[in-house]
Amino acid sequence: MSSLIDTRPVILTGDRTTGPLHLGHYVGSLKSRVALQHSHQQFLLLADTQALTDNAHDPEKVRRNVLEVATDYLAVGIDPVLTTICVQSALPALAELTLLYLNFVTVSRLERNPTIKTEIQLRGFERDVPAGFLCYPVAQAADITAFKATVVPVGEDQAPLIEQTNEIVRRLNRQIGRDVLVEATAMVPSVGRLPGVDGKAKMSKSQGNAISLSASPGEISDAVRRMYTDPDHLRVGDPGRVEGNVVFTYLDAFCKDRQLVDDMKAHYRRGGLGDVTLKRHLEDILQPLLAPIRTRRARYAAEPGYVMEVVREGTRKARERTESTLAELRSALGLFSLI
Ligand code: TRP
Repeated sequence: MSSLIDTRPVILTGDRTTGPLHLGHYVGSLKSRVALQHSHQQFLLLADTQALTDNAHDPEKVRRNVLEVATDYLAVGIDPVLTTICVQSALPALAELTLLYLNFVTVSRLERNPTIKTEIQLRGFERDVPAGFLCYPVAQAADITAFKATVVPVGEDQAPLIEQTNEIVRRLNRQIGRDVLVEATAMVPSVGRLPGVDGKAKMSKSQGNAISLSASPGEISDAVRRMYTDPDHLRVGDPGRVEGNVVFTYLDAFCKDRQLVDDMKAHYRRGGLGDVTLKRHLEDILQPLLAPIRTRRARYAAEPGYVMEVVREGTRKARERTESTLAELRSALGLFSLI
């Protein structure tokens, strides 16, 4: 088998290494990656260089989380035989491609990128945007094209980055006169972003509203107990609101029995379904979902040497692939070569 050329479509996706992954990452992307690794040639990028674009003040955090995120991948069932896990900063071809691509995009186009515009606001950069941050869509274009990925699973908020990648691809191919680079399609998850347990739009470790993949049974219980419901639903018999009720959002994301969720929504709206009962139902789904992940995570966390070896091996493989794309592009552009 291994001597045959792998003709399966190529996936590249990744995560900034700013903290361990959580339940939001699991429903939003990790779960589908576990399935996709059987039908695709899948590469997962531990995006430490990209993490530095807004964490340059804390490189130690970024470094430490390379191993954490790799451990999360293995814990959810990413199989290193089927998926290549690699480290962005150890792939110099990505940096060199970024430098070349920067000439095929304008500053005003970067400033107009909707993802970047929102993120600049969220981070309160205002006028002091690090140049590396403004240009990270170009670096991401380098990531995607270096692997010749055609499928890029990303959250909806990142979809404009794939647009921008394809613009760069078209410009370069036009310049060269043939299709050296390939365009990619964003694969946006069907489930929306999972809100934090407090009802805030985003689940994030720094907001303290996340359920981590290593959460203990007690922590899961606490998180569910704290979950935001309908503040006006004071007595069990009162009619309650389903919209904006985090427990229902989670049930929509995790409960496989749609009919049951619909019945519960109707019952809650009518009155007579208490928050405690509702939350118990959600907990009965989350506990068995997270238990095997927690167990596997603890096992891998106890063997950092093994996880590191997986990452090293994947990075070696990714190096070959990305160097080859860079060599092709350098030659197509007629850049100086020592050989
Ligand atoms: N920007 C992605 C995130 O914020 C991480 C990432 C880096 C990525 N390079 C990528 C995603 C290439 C897809 C393809 O999580």
